[in-house]
Amino acid sequence: MLALDATKQVVAERILVPGVIELRHIAEAPPRLGEYLLVPFMRPKNLGPLIQVSQGWMMTHGMAVVRPALNAPVGEGQSKVTQVLLDDIDYYFAGNDGVAFTPDGRRAAVTSSDADTVSILDTAKLARRLQQGPAEELADRLDSAATFVVARLGTGHNPTSVVTSPDSRWAYVANRLDDSLTIVDMAQAKVAATLSLGGPKEITPLRRGEQLFHAAKYCFQGQFACGTCHPNSHLDGLAWNLETPQLGRDRVANRTLRGIRETAPYKWNGHNPDIATQCGPRIAKFLFRSEGFNTQELEALVTYVNNIPLAPNRHLAPDGQLTEAQERGKAIFYRKNTNDGRAVPIQSRCDTCHPAETHYTNRISTEVGSATKYDTSGLLDTPQLDRVYEDAPYLHNGEALTLEEIWTVFNNYDTHGITSDMGKEQLNDLIEFLKTL
Ligand code: HEC
Ligand code: HEC
Repeated sequence: MLALDATKQVVAERILVPGVIELRHIAEAPPRLGEYLLVPFMRPKNLGPLIQVSQGWMMTHGMAVVRPALNAPVGEGQSKVTQVLLDDIDYYFAGNDGVAFTPDGRRAAVTSSDADTVSILDTAKLARRLQQGPAEELADRLDSAATFVVARLGTGHNPTSVVTSPDSRWAYVANRLDDSLTIVDMAQAKVAATLSLGGPKEITPLRRGEQLFHAAKYCFQGQFACGTCHPNSHLDGLAWNLETPQLGRDRVANRTLRGIRETAPYKWNGHNPDIATQCGPRIAKFLFRSEGFNTQELEALVTYVNNIPLAPNRHLAPDGQLTEAQERGKAIFYRKNTNDGRAVPIQSRCDTCHPAETHYTNRISTEVGSATKYDTSGLLDTPQLDRVYEDAPYLHNGEALTLEEIWTVFNNYDTHGITSDMGKEQLNDLIEFLKTL
């Protein structure tokens, strides 16, 4: 998190919340509670073999309680951060999202968007819990929530934001995939009403699929949903130890789900022929540790995944005209000769494996020398390159942090296209072109 000095317009402090991702909302405690902020988070254990889901603890959800160093000079402040978990010992509350205090400071509400739940917190009890034991220990205690959560209330599908009324009586939860509001009586900690916002009466398979994409109840103990690892139907930027029981082997970077309809086969190793196979039995067996989806549900989910659009391209002019640097990069992508006039063999040309007509993938598995000793096989499905600029980190194991590193760090022997003869400026141009795809 960044603390900004509004007067000087500079970053006053970078506040670290170790091990967590997806900080989406923040709420400031009313003054009578003392100065602190609540920031819901998710903490993934992505490098532990995911087959351990049945032992719990692959992903936990909680809140950072941040006491900001308000009056320290710029660059010298050190905010105090305590992590406290919102999950129960045997049930998890995936997709922590919105957060709000009642103005009287007595209660707070936190939505769990993938668990269709809003948790109502007693702030006095939370304060007491934070006094019990050192912060490092509290961060890993699954018995905290029971001490300060007053109620877990069911909402509509995918509750994201929550706000409270000025008189502290009500909280309004926006159910993103239901077009409805859940109205909570905060004193009684009960759902008072559900207000329809007049969305479409009929639920299309597309919408049903998106609801399922955000439904953690299909996973053992409700630990996570598809949307947990694929936020905004994209990727979380992490590498996961998905299927192997061996710690550290066959680690795979997450992959985007945007615009993948015509890019089969799936997965880095290209072993999954279609989205139904990827999302159905495999997910049930290897990720969710549950029965998974029934046939109709799977059909809806696949419809959704097949229709996730690509984001508009930020690097391409609206009329599609390339800049000079992008044009120079394009010429390098399609080049047939190196700088010193040697021919680039066909199998080493970028466009042989990444042809424009088919989303820049020939849909064939090849070795490009990127495997490490931790990989069982170096044979990898050529990835599509549409909007590749938003897919970092790169390569199957996520070891290349930027597009440049694919070649500056990992292509020492020209096994992934011929790039060793290129100057820095040529590589820059190539990257500028890749960003337009
Ligand atoms: C624990 C995190 C996690 C969860 C939960 C998860 N995924 Fe993934 N997903 C990944 C990772 C990591 C990969 C890359 C795996 C590989 O290539 O070996 C991936 C790959 C995929 C792919 C293949 C994309 C491609 O282009 O090859 C699809 C499709 C997919 N996920 C859909 C889903 C759906 C649908 C769900 C829910 C049913 C889901 N995922 C749940 C982490 C996750
Ligand atoms: C022989 C086929 C082949 C050639 C030639 C080739 N690539 Fe690749 N490319 C691949 C494969 C396979 C991968 C996946 C490697 C991995 O994940 O470890 C890949 C990965 C990439 C990625 C990373 C994508 C991601 O999402 O992580 C980019 C970008 C890329 N290639 C661009 C290029 C460019 C530019 C060239 C020409 C200089 C090129 N490739 C030449 C097969 C090829």
